[in-house]
Amino acid sequence: MISLPHEVEQSFFGGTSIELLNTAPCGASGPRVVFLRNGQPTIYALKYGNTRVPIHEQLENRKVLAEFMPHRLPKVLKFCEYPGGEAMLMEAIPGPNLHYAVVESWYPDSVILHLVDSILGEFAEMWRRSRSTEILQFKRNFFDRAAIVKVSIENALRQLGIPPDAPLVINGTPIGKPLELAQVLDTFQAPPFSVICHYDLHADNFFLDARPDWFLGDWEWAGRHDYKASLTHLYSWWMTTCARLKTDPEVKLRGDHFELNYWLYLPELCEQIRGKCVEQASFMADELGDSPHWEKNFWLHAGCDILGDLRFIGVRNRQPYLPALLGEGLLLLHRAATFKV
Ligand SMILES: Nc1ncnc2c1ncn2[C@@H]1O[C@H](COP(=O)(O)OP(=O)(O)OP(=O)(O)O)[C@@H](O)[C@H]1O
Ligand SMILES: [Mg+2]
Repeated sequence: MISLPHEVEQSFFGGTSIELLNTAPCGASGPRVVFLRNGQPTIYALKYGNTRVPIHEQLENRKVLAEFMPHRLPKVLKFCEYPGGEAMLMEAIPGPNLHYAVVESWYPDSVILHLVDSILGEFAEMWRRSRSTEILQFKRNFFDRAAIVKVSIENALRQLGIPPDAPLVINGTPIGKPLELAQVLDTFQAPPFSVICHYDLHADNFFLDARPDWFLGDWEWAGRHDYKASLTHLYSWWMTTCARLKTDPEVKLRGDHFELNYWLYLPELCEQIRGKCVEQASFMADELGDSPHWEKNFWLHAGCDILGDLRFIGVRNRQPYLPALLGEGLLLLHRAATFKV
């Protein structure tokens, strides 16, 4: 049974009675989102607690996106600080988020794919309008992420009993020694321009209304970015979150090398969404004038998305997926390493 922090209730509703309706599925970082009403039919979404990026900073970042897509952002009605953190009261978007709309089959695939086209189309427009060759400072530094990813790879290999300096074959593809492969992360090149983007573009951050049309929440990283990082988030996230294993993965020592074998698959709809992200990257690379190496850098981002998320695998109750997701991430780095222009 949830009870709201007294100070938040007092600040937003001045002691009048409120009815808590339900809670939203929240990420691993700590905040809560609850839906409530206050004697009227209007339903509010209240986000509160300790967030990785404080809510007041999220509100500043919201302004960056509001310049380009104000109609896509849930309205924020009130904000307050209280001893346990910060809180904001928002208009509640009445449907599921895109994640649950897909996994709980709320709509036919064609409706979801149409939404994804609309999302990618509006982001493309924002990128065209905000492209700058002058501001090459990116809000998130790739090499900071890469350092975290390298530690994630080593931890995962250790847990699976695979030495980082032994040759590894993943589902029949020799990827060399994982430690050597990880060095491909050092060859990353940022694009020659930045764009305004949300950055954390994954399906839990798109909220659907009854039509269904889409809204975008969780503005913690909004700012100047490499457009590819946003597309790879949406590409990789389905694998991290929704992929299924047919059987238990196997790790075997064979002579001088290790083998990692697994059978991981995604529903066709998720694969189609991923296909759209890759298509859009190719289209935008051309239109925005990215370097000829854009595709290699795209796969580096995608590999980082999957491998960096391995550290949350326990919180997400997906421990049995560790070998397969490590495998998928390393295969993406291998793809980048062997990429020819
Ligand atoms: N205004 C809103 N209307 C409808 N649903 C919402 C709204 N805000 C949040 N939600 C629901 O709550 C979930 C979690 O919210 P949100 O994405 O803002 O936070 P988070 O990912 O848990 O936290 P963090 O800020 O640390 O990334 C969303 O996936 C969505 O289902
Ligand atoms: Mg979120």
